[in-house]
Amino acid sequence: MAEEKIYLYPIYIRIWHLCNAAFCLLLIITGISMQFSNPKYPMIRFDVAVTIHNIFGILLTVSYFIFFVGNLLSGNGKYYKMAFPGLYSRLKSQFTYYTRGIFRNDPVPFPVSMEIKFNPLQQFSYIGIMYILVPLIIITGWSMMYPDVFIPVKFLGVSGLHLTDLFHIFIGFLISVFMFIHIYFCTIGKTPLSNFKGMINGYHEVH
Ligand code: HEM
Repeated sequence: MAEEKIYLYPIYIRIWHLCNAAFCLLLIITGISMQFSNPKYPMIRFDVAVTIHNIFGILLTVSYFIFFVGNLLSGNGKYYKMAFPGLYSRLKSQFTYYTRGIFRNDPVPFPVSMEIKFNPLQQFSYIGIMYILVPLIIITGWSMMYPDVFIPVKFLGVSGLHLTDLFHIFIGFLISVFMFIHIYFCTIGKTPLSNFKGMINGYHEVH
């Protein structure tokens, strides 16, 4: 049988994704260094980490803008529109596949096609990360670059800057967790490397 490949990752998505992944990694590393390192023996010198973090935060904002506008203007945006009727049962059947079916060699419940690029759990998590968490980390990050403009000195008696910082770190933690789970699930393809190849050459290998 001929190997079936579908062109699913347009070039702008591939470039955006590569930049986005690199920027997120650098932001996580510099963020962790700023938060946890002993100031006397930092992983990365504090002022250097702040500068790198700010630069890549700005670049992440630019790349997010490309993703957002690209999804509005190109056909890729349709894969991010979630149909609410039947959502629970679709999520459940994908979850059941990942926890049981996959080990019994059951057929994939939502085979990838030009119409269905993401399975329900993928779609749910990609919408959550790209339309909730990434915008929130960008907004809180910019607010902390210009606290006088965007952050109240006190909120409910607590320092507004401190609260924004805590929220920013919490979202950063969620994005880091997403990244681990995301990379693990990307290995579930026709072969463990198929999905990674697809993100480079644009073609999804159907299995
Ligand atoms: C080293 C880090 C990363 C690797 C190796 C990686 C790998 C991949 C691969 C192989 C795909 C295509 C397969 C699929 O759609 O499931 C993909 C898609 C995707 N990834 Fe990642 N990823 C990384 C980081 C990230 C990060 C940090 C985010 C978000 C903050 C992200 C968001 C997405 C989204 C939204 C898609 C679907 C894009 C589309 O087709 O519209 N990825 N990733």
